[in-house]
Amino acid sequence: MNQKLLVVGNWKMELSHKASLEVAKSLKKLLRDVKLGGEVVLCPSYPTLPAVAEIFSQAKEKVSVGAQNIYHEERGAYTGQVSVLQIKPWATWCIVGHSESRSVSGESDEQVLQKVNILLRHGLRPIICIGENAEERAADQTVNKVTNQMEVLLSGLDRSSLSKVVICYEPIWAISSVRTSPMPDPQEISQTAMLIRKVVANKFDREIVERLRLLYGGSVNAQNVAQYVGEPGIDGVLVGSAATHPRDFLEIIVNARRAWSP
Ligand code: PGA
Repeated sequence: MNQKLLVVGNWKMELSHKASLEVAKSLKKLLRDVKLGGEVVLCPSYPTLPAVAEIFSQAKEKVSVGAQNIYHEERGAYTGQVSVLQIKPWATWCIVGHSESRSVSGESDEQVLQKVNILLRHGLRPIICIGENAEERAADQTVNKVTNQMEVLLSGLDRSSLSKVVICYEPIWAISSVRTSPMPDPQEISQTAMLIRKVVANKFDREIVERLRLLYGGSVNAQNVAQYVGEPGIDGVLVGSAATHPRDFLEIIVNARRAWSP
């Protein structure tokens, strides 16, 4: 395995344009004295992408910028949608299939796959979110849901594509904005990560499985991050609300780096 730890900050729609720039600048300052020892990606809203990319263009430690979604077509009469062509000058990464995007637009796993392929065609790196909701969990459907989502993805990805994507296992019920139950047990997360790798192994081989980058997402903070990235098969985290606070996000990066071993 040769991958690096990956910490992704998803700012969602939490910050104004001005506040986003303040958070970015303050994070840049904080990171000056820190050796990242991994990759860090920030995902602001579309209009803020260029400015955040500019802030980090001269940073000592490399921080990449990603979008939070794209439309599943490249161009056309799609009022209000955003194409890969419009984020490409600034974004290296793009989240797709986030449960919040899925619920707003009702998008299917097939459309998520279309987005992944569009991104790959344009040289961007997809961060693909999958995971079960509270009802599916209560009905003991986690394995089915995650397996099905992975199978749809794998139906349209070849070996080389798979080595460029990142899978984020994010149990929807664990996201901070909706979570009512305790945090997921890190061992259960690791088991689902193993399941995801097993589904990949069934279609490909061990080498591709070992190179697959897999993140955990859902209520990650500076106190709990080590438990998740310390589990085998977890290569990093997708962080939502804590990523909008520069000191918290920095602490997450530092604690994740301490706990993670490839
Ligand atoms: P959270 O969000 O860290 O606030 O739970 C994670 C996400 O939804 O990506």
